[in-house]
Amino acid sequence: MNTRGWTPITKIENIALREGRAVKVGDTEIAIFRLDHRYLTIENKCPHKGGPLCDGIVSGTTVVCPLHGQRFDLETGMPVLASQPGCVAIFPTRVEEGVIFVDLGSASKGQEEVAA
Ligand code: FES
Repeated sequence: MNTRGWTPITKIENIALREGRAVKVGDTEIAIFRLDHRYLTIENKCPHKGGPLCDGIVSGTTVVCPLHGQRFDLETGMPVLASQPGCVAIFPTRVEEGVIFVDLGSASKGQEEVAA
């Protein structure tokens, strides 16, 4: 398997079910969420006023920003309401031998790829 670009982040047991955890890798702060047996990673900064999305309540496949309540889809990074401004970057995430890996160089935001 090609592991280029994949960064080991933490062991799966370090992320509680339906909760987020903030991790800073270089200049990038990400939030990893565990949904049942899936792990999803987004940037840990709400586009509204920078709220820490890792602290938001998870509902289904969405997270609610703890500051003002905007909701984002963890799979797409898109806002749930079309009236909300902005979206968050998402990062490819996989698990290998109990360790979560994130590809920080392959972020996408909305329909576009972005530099991490
Ligand atoms: S900072 Fe997230 S909704 Fe305002």
